[in-house]
Amino acid sequence: MKKFFVVLPALAAALMVISGCQRESGGASAGGDVSRGMDRRIVMGYSQIGAESEWRTACTNSVKAAAEEWNIELIFSDAQQKQENQMQAIRSFIRQKVDIIGFTPVVETGWDAILQEIKDAGIPVICVDRQVTLAAGKNQEDYITAFIGSNMQAEATKAAQWIVNYMKTTGNTKKKDDGSTDINVAILEGTTGSGAQVGRTEGWNAEIAKYPNYKTIFRQTGNFTRAEGQQVMEAWMKSPQANDIDVLLAQNDDMAIGAIDAINAAGKKPGTDIIIVSIDAVKGAFDAMLRKELNATIECNPLLGPQVMDTAVKILNNQPVTWWVESEESQFDWTNAEAAYPSRQY
Ligand code: AHR
Repeated sequence: MKKFFVVLPALAAALMVISGCQRESGGASAGGDVSRGMDRRIVMGYSQIGAESEWRTACTNSVKAAAEEWNIELIFSDAQQKQENQMQAIRSFIRQKVDIIGFTPVVETGWDAILQEIKDAGIPVICVDRQVTLAAGKNQEDYITAFIGSNMQAEATKAAQWIVNYMKTTGNTKKKDDGSTDINVAILEGTTGSGAQVGRTEGWNAEIAKYPNYKTIFRQTGNFTRAEGQQVMEAWMKSPQANDIDVLLAQNDDMAIGAIDAINAAGKKPGTDIIIVSIDAVKGAFDAMLRKELNATIECNPLLGPQVMDTAVKILNNQPVTWWVESEESQFDWTNAEAAYPSRQY
């Protein structure tokens, strides 16, 4: 029996390691045994997709810091971009009977069965940053209690509008948009099938369709990482069409930053020969804008932790929550980047 009690915690710890879960302290020493706004200390299982970008790191830090602040015990799992790791982590949260689950789905589809399992276990779910798409006839609102994140379509619409306006008023070293000359665009997309890639592609396609002289000459995934953004851009810069690229749209800042290195290495001037716009507004993008290598970035707010914890407490107190409160976001370019830089938090 004694052996059983020695082995059991070790086994639980081993299972946590296997499923990539990590128990965060959640500030118990400071906050005692009660979570903020609750009459007891609550446990949240949180499945993050990985650490692919500066944005993602800021998001993870925000969630962990907010859990500390709310004195919520956080069981955090890093899925390393794999949906099966997220499933494993979520199943371990169900087994551990957590009070609430937070998760960012790496891709939109494939969640029907596990969401049903969570529902059957009576555990509320908060979806963070990216949404899911369920089988026809099913609504995510029936399985997910709240969504906290950005409007991905709107971000790409803003990017398209910024580009069209800039190409009309300023242009690159080769041309200005007179409404009939072809403007050739290269697009670095995020992780294929992710809410961010799907939404941003839809938003871009819908807006740019209004301008038939905009032609997409390259489109490939860079998986939201700096390294892949650089690799893909390197290949494009070696292709016979390299000189035709007027504009680069990167679906996140990290890929744009990688691409900037590739453009410089190819002897072209990023920001002047090729106009570059991306999404996120992380510090690295501000550095690139101050060097005049990135033209603009559209903000996607990763500081979602406080909203996640606040919503969790409301849900567990049976208070009404709005299913989706869209993040308020801004956009930055060479006209306002320098002034905004000192107050940026990520
Ligand atoms: O889902 C949000 C996107 O994912 C961010 O734009 C990107 O940087 C991240 O990796």
